[in-house]
Amino acid sequence: MEHVEQKGARVPAIGLGTWKLQGADCYDAVTHALSIGYRHIDTAQAYANEEQVGQGMADAAVPRSEVWLTTKVWVDNAAREDVRPAVQGSLRRLGTGYVDLLLLHWPAPDVAVTETLGAMSELVDEGLTRYVGVSNFPSAYAREAETVADVLTNQVEYHPYLSQEAVLAEAERDGHSVTAYSPLAHGRVTNDRTIRQVAAGYGKTPAQVTLRWLIQQPRVVAIPRSVHRLRHAENLDVFDFELSDDDMKTMASLARPDGRLIDPSFAPPWD
Ligand SMILES: NC(=O)c1ccc[n+]([C@@H]2O[C@H](COP(=O)([O-])OP(=O)(O)OC[C@H]3O[C@@H](n4cnc5c(N)ncnc54)[C@H](OP(=O)(O)O)[C@@H]3O)[C@@H](O)[C@H]2O)c1
Repeated sequence: MEHVEQKGARVPAIGLGTWKLQGADCYDAVTHALSIGYRHIDTAQAYANEEQVGQGMADAAVPRSEVWLTTKVWVDNAAREDVRPAVQGSLRRLGTGYVDLLLLHWPAPDVAVTETLGAMSELVDEGLTRYVGVSNFPSAYAREAETVADVLTNQVEYHPYLSQEAVLAEAERDGHSVTAYSPLAHGRVTNDRTIRQVAAGYGKTPAQVTLRWLIQQPRVVAIPRSVHRLRHAENLDVFDFELSDDDMKTMASLARPDGRLIDPSFAPPWD
C-alpha cells in the first residue's frame, strides 16, 4: 500500500468508497475490503450506512488504529450549533470514539464555510476527529476554508474525463491532498478505447490504470467503490507498476468540458 503524507497524516492512497452501499452489501464490502488489505474507508452521514460501516470495521480483525476512517457532515448540519451533535451521532453509529477525517460534504448554501469549518476544527481539539477537510470545494472556497481550518484534503470528483487543475493547484499551494471521488467515472473507464489500450500495455485492467494514473500524481488519493469482492482486489492491485510519462499524458488528455458526472442544483460555481 502506498500512502499520501500531508500535514502529519499518512493516508492510504486507495480507500473503499461506500456511497450507495446499504445493509448487508455495505457490511460485506467493508469486512472483505479490510480482510484483503484495505486500510481506508470513506462514508458520510448522507450515505445512511455508518452503522454498517462501523459494524464491518468492528468485525474485521484489524485494529481501529490501523484504519483510516472518513465521514462527512451533511449540509443540513453545517450551522455552528449543529456540527457537534451531528458528529456525535456519526460516532455513535460508527461505534468508534473518533474518525480520522471529518469533511464538510458540500459548501452549505446558507452557512458560511468559515462557520462550519471553525466548528469542525474545535472537534479536533476535543479528539472527535484527527483531521478536518472539505469536499466539493472549488479552489476559491478551499482558500477561504484554509483561513479558519488546517484543511487536510479536498475530496472532489476526479477521473480522466474531468480536469481538476485549479483544485490541484490550490492543494499544492496549501499543502493539502486531493481525494478523487468517482475515480472510475462510475465504471465508464472500463469501456474506453484509449484507456483499454493503455491498460493492455501493462497487463492491467482499465480500472487499474485509471486508479494508478490518479495516485501517481502528487498528493492524490482515490476511493473507488464496488460491491464485488473481485473488484475490491482488482482496485487495490495498483502498487506493482508505474505509468510512463507518455501514458500519464494520454490519460490526462481524455478530460473534456462535459466530463463532470455529479452536479446537483446546490453545487457551487465550479472552477
Ligand atoms: N464527496 C462527495 O460528494 C462524493 C460524491 C460521490 C462519491 N463519493 C465517494 O467516492 C466513492 C467512489 O465514487 P462512486 O461510488 O461515485 O463511483 P466510482 O468508484 O467511480 O464507480 C463505482 C462504480 O464502478 C463500478 N466498479 C468498481 N470497480 C470496478 C472495476 N474494477 N471494474 C469495473 N467497474 C468497477 C462499480 O460497480 P460494482 O459495485 O457493480 O462493482 C460501481 O458501479 C463513493 O462510493 C463515495 O465514498 C463522494
